[in-house]
Amino acid sequence: MQVVNSKQTKVFITRHLPTQLTELEQVAIVEVWEENQPPPAQILLEKAETVNGILCFLTDPIDQTVIESAKNLQVISQMAVGYDNIDVAAATAQRIPVGHTPGILTDTTADFTWALLMAAARQLIPSDRFTREGLWKTWEPDLFLGATITGATLGIIGFGRIGKAIARRAQGFDMRVLYTSNHRCDVHLENALGIEFSTLERLLEEADFVTIHTPLSQDTYHLFSARQFKIMKPTAILINTARGQIVDPDALYHALSEGQIASAALDVTEPEPIPMNSPLLTLNNLIISPHIGSASRQTREKMANMAIANLIAGLKGETLPYCVNPEVYL
Ligand code: DGY
Repeated sequence: MQVVNSKQTKVFITRHLPTQLTELEQVAIVEVWEENQPPPAQILLEKAETVNGILCFLTDPIDQTVIESAKNLQVISQMAVGYDNIDVAAATAQRIPVGHTPGILTDTTADFTWALLMAAARQLIPSDRFTREGLWKTWEPDLFLGATITGATLGIIGFGRIGKAIARRAQGFDMRVLYTSNHRCDVHLENALGIEFSTLERLLEEADFVTIHTPLSQDTYHLFSARQFKIMKPTAILINTARGQIVDPDALYHALSEGQIASAALDVTEPEPIPMNSPLLTLNNLIISPHIGSASRQTREKMANMAIANLIAGLKGETLPYCVNPEVYL
């Protein structure tokens, strides 16, 4: 273990953290970017050049230029499970470990996904708006008819931690669950969860609800484009709490406005934030929330603490508890 000199060790935290920094301040001089917006690229570059550790968020592009200019950098710690904003290959080439925060946000994100699924299925947001606008005059037999959730077919795309947590929730709603993933899970788990492995094509053809839980990669960029929407049922509902770039926004707009699918609920968009002139914002059959899937008070505090634990380990030259590029230790 390396002894850290807190007078010389510097870290930059790119936003206010929802936890105490006391432990970190014992090992480093801590600078926090306190603005509401993320640090501009130039600031990020300047800070990276001088610090030993960076604690960042998915809004910070930690690209090859930043990494290669960071001569003293010993660790990059991301407060998120996804890390597509970080050039991990460039970090690995410089033998810089990259930390992230898996596991602790699984249930919170799955809960929120379920909230979006239910809200989209039962027209929760438009019906609230309707009520506030004074349009509720009487009970009507066909007012805000939605889709039945119990017993419907759910398609899960990506079957990591969050995909599995979604399958567990679906059991409580007696749903038929199809899943697609790079790796088929073992038959015991399939039986225990009552789920069926499927091709993407079949899942899209058969599912009443389709929910995305795959990381963003070259393979999943615009995985949902015009072709996929054409395969889906006209009654289908799409939920995305993973990464915005997995769904082509123009194709989604056409699918929703032309009735190729019934509705969608997005917690993530391409780009983020969604531009206010996006045609998607004109649609009533779309719910959009501002990337808050993991945003419960308790979970965000745990994520911050895990990111700090990764950061401190990196500063001390110890193996990060949650490292995305463990090959740096080989
Ligand atoms: C993540 O962790 O990757 C989410 O998108 C933010 O919590």
